[in-house]
Amino acid sequence: MRDTTLTELSIRRPDDWHLHLRDGAMLAGVIGDTSRHFARAIIMPNLVPPVVTTDDAAGYRQRILDALPQGDRFEPLMTLYLTEHTNPDDVEAGHRSGLIRAVKLYPAGATTNSHSGVRDLAKVMPVLERMAKIGLTLCVHGEVTTPEIDIFDREAVFIETVLDPLRERLPELRITMEHVTTKDGVDYIRTAKANLAGSITTHHLIINRNAILVGGIRPHYYCLPVAKREEHRLALREAATSGDAHFFLGTDSAPHADPLKECGCGCAGIYTSINTMSCLAHVFEEEGALDRLEAFTSLHGPAWYGLPPNEERIRLLRRDTPVVFPARRDTGAGPVTVFDPMFPLYWDVA
Ligand code: DOR
Ligand code: ZN
Repeated sequence: MRDTTLTELSIRRPDDWHLHLRDGAMLAGVIGDTSRHFARAIIMPNLVPPVVTTDDAAGYRQRILDALPQGDRFEPLMTLYLTEHTNPDDVEAGHRSGLIRAVKLYPAGATTNSHSGVRDLAKVMPVLERMAKIGLTLCVHGEVTTPEIDIFDREAVFIETVLDPLRERLPELRITMEHVTTKDGVDYIRTAKANLAGSITTHHLIINRNAILVGGIRPHYYCLPVAKREEHRLALREAATSGDAHFFLGTDSAPHADPLKECGCGCAGIYTSINTMSCLAHVFEEEGALDRLEAFTSLHGPAWYGLPPNEERIRLLRRDTPVVFPARRDTGAGPVTVFDPMFPLYWDVA
């Protein structure tokens, strides 16, 4: 139920615990939309070629810092792309230097630029064992990619056949199940005793699979994991707004130039960096949980990653008339359509 009396909110500056910034002209075009509101973000390593070594991550971090708009302060939290050739010593050195905050597991073929991902988990066990020993977090794209499995079941099957056995085998390994999209995921994380947390995107709180398919194919609502049925969206909303510290924001904002989405085989990814805070305030207001927005965007994530919450604050204001966001972000790599939540947004970051 909406609390219509609340029109102003001050929260600690948020962080984004799952973000795609790309590189080059795209990076330059989108970074300002994140650094305007967010203090830090976990940066996804699925560039072409991927960020696989500590050296790669150091170079990429510098390119991100160089692309920041003048005066913006933003800390990229770097990750490594796990491959079957990843060297545990390099991972440990990167972690000890403070540069590497997590390692990302993409099952091969699961999503954009994931062909260098992991085919056989046994091959990366030495890296995972080292990570468990040094306390470095594994971020997982939790979907199986076997062709027999229906795309809407990929997450549930991943939990049963990959995640749960892995946690049994290596209970000390800290795992972030990223962009949870199902009630199965929510329930699994909620009942985990230790060493498991989940990030939730902005768009999965807002759309279900109808958004992609009803009335025509709408490529700008296509992402991976794909949005599921309404019951799953409701479970995600409940988890995000519940105050449960297992759950925090990871936008998975993933820019692709429009021609790469509006074609016969469009890329997966939704661009939400620019209006995420407005969308989230709307969702939390609808759920009568504005008092828990800060926990989701600014407290649970740092606690999980062992970092202090940001001291700086941002102010959200509820306007009388809708806040207008551009339909597209123009970048040197082409126009990127901005996520349209399909309802007017009244909350604005002051
Ligand atoms: O929708 C997605 N887009 N999901 C991912 O996992 C990757 C991302 C991308 O890089 O475009
Ligand atoms: Zn992602």
